[in-house]
Amino acid sequence: MKLYIETLGCAMNTRDSEHMISELQKKEGYELTSDAKDADLILINTCSVREKPERKLFSEIGQFAKIKKAGAKIGVCGCTASHMGEQIIKRAPSVDFVLGARNVSKITEVLHKPKAVEVSIDYDDSTYVFDVAKNTGIKALLNISIGCDKKCAYCIVPHTRGKEISIPLDLLLKEANKLVASGVKEIMLLGQNVNNYGARFSVPHEKIDFAGLLRELEKIEGLHRIRFTSPHPLHMDDAFLEEFARNKKVCKSIHIPLQSGSTQILRAMRRGYTKEWYLNRIKKLRSLVPDVGISTDIIVGFPTESDADFQDTMDVLEAVRFDTMYSFVYSPRPHTESASWGQEKEVEKEVASKRLAILQNRHKEILKEDAKKELGKTYTILVENNKQSPVEVFSEGRSDNGRLIKIQGEFLDIGSFVEVEVVATDGGSLIGKSKAVKA
Ligand code: 5AD
Ligand code: SF4
Repeated sequence: MKLYIETLGCAMNTRDSEHMISELQKKEGYELTSDAKDADLILINTCSVREKPERKLFSEIGQFAKIKKAGAKIGVCGCTASHMGEQIIKRAPSVDFVLGARNVSKITEVLHKPKAVEVSIDYDDSTYVFDVAKNTGIKALLNISIGCDKKCAYCIVPHTRGKEISIPLDLLLKEANKLVASGVKEIMLLGQNVNNYGARFSVPHEKIDFAGLLRELEKIEGLHRIRFTSPHPLHMDDAFLEEFARNKKVCKSIHIPLQSGSTQILRAMRRGYTKEWYLNRIKKLRSLVPDVGISTDIIVGFPTESDADFQDTMDVLEAVRFDTMYSFVYSPRPHTESASWGQEKEVEKEVASKRLAILQNRHKEILKEDAKKELGKTYTILVENNKQSPVEVFSEGRSDNGRLIKIQGEFLDIGSFVEVEVVATDGGSLIGKSKAVKA
């Protein structure tokens, strides 16, 4: 039996897909295929955070229905499955089952129930997540919590993934040890709100917070690097930042979603912090870890955003000079607070697009300027990718603080730690030369 799976959206969805693949391999004997025409089961793991990919879902289902083998099944999973539920089957009768983002551990159940719709957000998936150990190479994703308790006015995720539950420590340690034993060197901890870890468990007597979890993971021998995404700026207290700085295995790069630089817009978004708090946390972080890599998410054109509000976002960009920035035009989503505010509060599409272009162009310039400052610096990278062909030879990897460095003309082993000097830049990208292989 063959499985074709398409994964949209965030790292959480990538992890959910890995989980479904493992379950289907272990319990149903499926093998992966990259050709949908050849598959006995086609899964689309959807994202609903913005409108565009969601619009494309139905035309995609139509395409799959046309090319699939006779008798092959189509399943729609993930966040769009969660919030549209049986409407998906009504609109697209070729779909055999719908499985919500909170319910992925039930994949082998729904597979055998014609027209099943499993989308309950009250379902507790938190102790089922690690049924199957999986060898993922040198880097692995590890869910530490599911769901989200925040109420950001623009965000559909609390509706699709339900309330926040942390996964018990013993399960996490068991899984992390299994991953390391299988050759994993770097673990990325995943949660909608990772630094709120421990706020609620479904098992009694568990009492640990995110800093405590990092300390426990640090003790695992053979684990070299720990990363995590996404933390919330509101929960970045001093204790968290100090542990981030102190912990020898925690990589010194961090995603700190800004969303907007305007305190007024942040209030309307219900983010719970101000422009000043955000800048204060960055200042504290940089005083502890001067070379920290910082990435962010920004939304422009949120309802009521004025030119002055947008200027606040530009100010924060100038002050922080993010190493990576993911930026989006606001997209009204069903089941969210801001979608009900009416058209008069909306920012005109052209204005929002113009602001996005201004923001992205300035960020590109910043990257170029900052890349030059990297010349001559030495970093240790974990080699993640390499290629040797008659046309090109290269290796690339990331430094501890998240900088992607490409080494031209050298074929280095994936999984090795290599000391690299930055010798050139290409726009915002860094080109290095190896100095020494460490392990
Ligand atoms: N419109 C635009 N961007 C959004 N995001 C979340 N919801 C929306 C929305 N309604 C962005 C946020 C979030 C990232 C994953 O997607 O920046 O951090
Ligand atoms: Fe991930 Fe959010 Fe998209 Fe769901 S809606 S897949 S949680 S980005």
